[in-house]
Order: sequence, then structure tokens, then C-alpha cells
Amino acid sequence: MNEVVFRTTSSELYLRFPEDFLWGVSTAAHQVEGDNCNQWSDWELAGRIKSGDRCGKACDWWENAERDFDIAFELGMKALRLSLEWSRIEPEEGRFDPAALQRYRQMLEGLQQRGIEPIVCLHHFTHPRWFEQRGAFLRADAPQLFERFTREVANAVGDLCRLWVTFNEPNVYAACGYVLGEFPPGRKGQLLNALRVNRIQAHAHVLAYRAIHELVSQAKVGWAQHYVVFEPLPGMASRWIAGLLDRLFNHTFFDLIETGRLGFPFGILTGRDDEARGCCDFVGLNVYSRFHVAFDIRNARTFFANIFVPAHVPQGDHGVDRPYGEAYPQAISDAVKRAAGLGKPIYIMENGVPDAEDQIRPWLIVNVLRELHGLIAQDYDIRGYLHWTLTDNFEWNEGWKLRFGLVALDPETQHRTMRSSAKLFSEIVRSNRVAVARADPCLPLSTTLP
Ligand code: BGC
Repeated sequence: MNEVVFRTTSSELYLRFPEDFLWGVSTAAHQVEGDNCNQWSDWELAGRIKSGDRCGKACDWWENAERDFDIAFELGMKALRLSLEWSRIEPEEGRFDPAALQRYRQMLEGLQQRGIEPIVCLHHFTHPRWFEQRGAFLRADAPQLFERFTREVANAVGDLCRLWVTFNEPNVYAACGYVLGEFPPGRKGQLLNALRVNRIQAHAHVLAYRAIHELVSQAKVGWAQHYVVFEPLPGMASRWIAGLLDRLFNHTFFDLIETGRLGFPFGILTGRDDEARGCCDFVGLNVYSRFHVAFDIRNARTFFANIFVPAHVPQGDHGVDRPYGEAYPQAISDAVKRAAGLGKPIYIMENGVPDAEDQIRPWLIVNVLRELHGLIAQDYDIRGYLHWTLTDNFEWNEGWKLRFGLVALDPETQHRTMRSSAKLFSEIVRSNRVAVARADPCLPLSTTLP
């Protein structure tokens, strides 16, 4: 049994986390750097951002990531996950840019100097235009191209990083890009291609895993899996559909890394990859939402499922044309229990809620952490929790419409305003504990940063 210490002050009881628990925040290159030239910049130029927003300078990280590193330091963060933008590092096929690699070295050093452990992700949805034009992860040689990029990165910054994430959410990348048509390349209804993409990404992950281990002696390598709870309405048809969505969305990449193949019948179509079996040192989990599912004969595109969020459940802000999802702290338990099957340490690599007014974020943070603590007490090997995200950033298709930051950003002026949940999370991180059953946190007034 892991350490579960209940500490009593005059009125409160606390849940203490393990001493070396890794607390931090997560980010992604395209969402924070500004002025990138990748397939998402083209998507934006083609008018495909639903809010019509421009990414522009984003959080201005390419010029001044250090401003946010200072805030992370002030908040007491122990880790910060960032992705390195492939399109900056290899702007033309086979030509690597030493200046870009040098800037990333500077960023990782900057984090270390502030006592913050950098966690590097190699693919967070974006890649170079030339790679997209060659068919991206539908190309048979994509794993080798990804491996070559990985080697350049590991050679350049390997001494500065211990934890490596190869892919962020391969399931979201494939589902949104090839089934729902909401991410580039904007294909709809191509389930088989989505599965192929994941199969090829799994192999790219294997090659990257080996390359990093060859070049970085202390490295631990994993990937970040998005996990959604699909809650069926009563009735067999709805249960069956919810089960299918769960399997296709949540389990595909897990299955590939756990067993080297997809379950029947999908495995017959995509073949097996024995090298992928067990190929990770940890599992990263990105957990946000629960969706409710009802069988609906009219929705062929989503496998005859009506996927919805009832109005009465806790939720953050709405996206441009639909709710973001139910904020559901218990989703963490389902995700952790699935990931535990791989027998590797688990990091919560992302968790958060779009909430510009910070109305439910404090509630979410506290309740997710209580849930997490319960899992640690049951001996699940959970090593860290990274909140999504530090500063509001460019939310893909939704642009600036959805705000996930502990810190609010005005992208025009780059002015930052601390939300009350930043203070709450900072207190939790610094004290390494969360209150047991204190009333759900109320909202102190926001404080403006100088
Ligand atoms: C992605 C992030 C995104 C966040 C909030 C995750 O699925 O990895 O890039 O901003 O969710 O939607």
C-alpha cells in the first residue's frame, strides 16, 4: 500500500501525495509558440478554424517562453511539458535547422535553471508541410522519417531531458483528421485509414523509443493517450454503440502497445507489429471529459451514435458549435485502470477544463486530485499530474474561444492575469496535499500580474 497520510489541522483533513510526485503543467508548440509553418497553419489559412481566429503570436513563446517559465516558477511547478515543433527543426525534408534546435536547448535549460523538469513531446498534432504533403502517417516510410527527426532532437537536447513523450493523443489525431474531418487533413468517415494511421504511428513510436534509448542513457519514453468516458443511455443498442466507441477511440493505441495488434476484426485489416508489444516505460494519460451516448439511426458518421452532453451536468465553456464535454473527475479512475493493464508507471499528462471565468476549474482540480489520491492509495503507480494548461493558448479548431489556462491571456497585448485556480493549484503543489472534504473551493478575486 502506498503512503496515505491524513493530516489534521484545527478544522481540515488533508490527503498527502508521495514525496517525489511530479506536479506540473502541459503545453504544445503550435498552441504557444506563434508564427509556425506547419499543416495547421495551412488549415488556418484555408479558413478552417471554426472561430475564425488567428493563431498569430499565440503565447509568444518562440520569442519569450521565459515569461511563462517565470510564472511556472512562481507557482512552484516541478515539471513543464512542451512539444518541439518538427516543422521548425526540419523545415525542408532532410534539412535540419541548428538555430531552432539551439532555441529549444535554451528553453530546456531555462526550465532547468528554474528547477522545473522539462518533459519533451515529439509530436503534438503538428508536423512539417512537406510531411503532410507526402501523406503524413499514411506513408509506409513515416516511421523512418519520424525516427530521423527524433535522432536529431535526442542528439541536440538529450542531456536536458529525462521524460519523453513520442506522440500526443494518436487517437485524437486519427479520429479528428480521418473520421470527423475536424483536423487536417480533414477527411471524413475513413475509419480504416484512421486505424492505419495509428498502426503506423505505433511503429514510429517503436523506432523513436529505441533511438532515444540508444542516445539518452537515463531516458524514460512513453506516449500520451487521450481517454474519454462514453456513458450509454439505458438499452442494449446504446450500450453496444458506447462500447464500440470506447473500443475504437480509447483502446486502439493501448491495444497496439500492449499486444502489438488491434483486436478482432480490426487487427485482420491492419496486421500486427510484434515490436510494439510492451514498448514503453510509462503511460501518459490525458483525461478531460465524459460524453453520453444514445443509439441514433441518423448519425452514420459517428457509427449511429448520438454523442451529447446533458445540460444539467458540470461543464465548462461551450465551443463554437458544441459543448466541450462533461467535466467528470471520475474519468481519471477509468483511464488509470485501463492504463494499469500495461504494468508501467502512469503520469497524468493533461487534465483541465475550458473555463474563462474560472467557475468550475477549482472544483475540477480538487476533485480530480482526490480521485487520483484514492487510486494511489489503492496502489496504482501514478507518478505525476500535469494540468492543461499554464497560460490560455490557441485551442486548435476553436482558436481563442476556449480558455484552459491557470493564467488568462490577452493575445493582442500578451497581458497575463492569474486566475484563482492558479493560486489554488500552486498551494496544492507547494504543500503536496489536497484537502479531503472541505466544501468545494469558492472563487477568490483574480489577481493581475504586473
Ligand atoms: C490536447 C491539447 C488541447 C486540450 C484541450 C488535448 O486533447 O492534447 O492540445 O488543447 O486537449 O482541448
